[in-house]
Amino acid sequence: MTTSSRARSFGAAAAAYAEHRPGYPADAVDWALAPVAGGPLRLLDLAAGTGKLTEGLLTRGAVTAVEPDPAMLAQLRARFPGVDALEGSAEAIPLPDASFDAVLVGQAWHWFDTDRAFAEVARVLRPGGVLAVLWNGDDAHVDWVRGMYEAGRWKSTVIRRPDEEPSLPTHPAFTPDGFAQFANPIPTTVDGLIATLRTHSWALTTDPAEREVIFDRIRAYLAARPETASGEFDHPLVTDVVRAVRREEAPSPGA
Ligand SMILES: C[S@@+](CC[C@H](N)C(=O)[O-])C[C@H]1O[C@@H](n2cnc3c(N)ncnc32)[C@H](O)[C@@H]1O
Repeated sequence: MTTSSRARSFGAAAAAYAEHRPGYPADAVDWALAPVAGGPLRLLDLAAGTGKLTEGLLTRGAVTAVEPDPAMLAQLRARFPGVDALEGSAEAIPLPDASFDAVLVGQAWHWFDTDRAFAEVARVLRPGGVLAVLWNGDDAHVDWVRGMYEAGRWKSTVIRRPDEEPSLPTHPAFTPDGFAQFANPIPTTVDGLIATLRTHSWALTTDPAEREVIFDRIRAYLAARPETASGEFDHPLVTDVVRAVRREEAPSPGA
């Protein structure tokens, strides 16, 4: 299974993604936008999917969404008809130079061709504008969460090791501007949590029989843990935000 086929896997589950995937906490979005706060903002949600991050941006300025997958884009347009939603990719953003104060990327930077995406984000951001990259991950400090990964034995990147500090590669057009974490507990049930896991790229691209074995193991584990055995519980997510600021001086072409 290649990275690009995983990157393109989400559309097949677009409606389930819209229904089950978590959004992002308001304090994470506040922190992301702090370098440009203070006026009406022009915001680009890049790789917007069904609009999980878009939703939290609507009160902060004029939002444009760019997403390559037509099925994901259709969900976003149905949910947020007032948002200017365009088909496009991080490597070819269909928007003019210097037209945004901030570009935000939720749960998608790892799918990009990093060099080409940096160049395109630098092009559409005004000098001094901010690039903020957000990820929701499982909080590995929590015992039952660690146990769920051990019990399920599936390959995923969404568990966050307690000592891990995400960063972006350096790029001449950007000054790194820090990293922050925000609690993002999501009320759920065993069925809800499994429905969410089913929208992850590893599940969408795993052989169905193998995938169901994994979900059977996860379900049995959650049924046996006192924290998750019955009713509603919090799925303890952590939102990581990494920020970089567009330098005032554009780097020379090819830099
Ligand atoms: C895990 S989803 C995240 C969607 C949304 N940002 C969110 O937070 O829920 C990853 C999204 O990245 C999109 N994607 C994959 N490769 C991309 C690329 N090269 N440029 C832009 N978007 C891409 C996928 O189509 C998918 O909608």
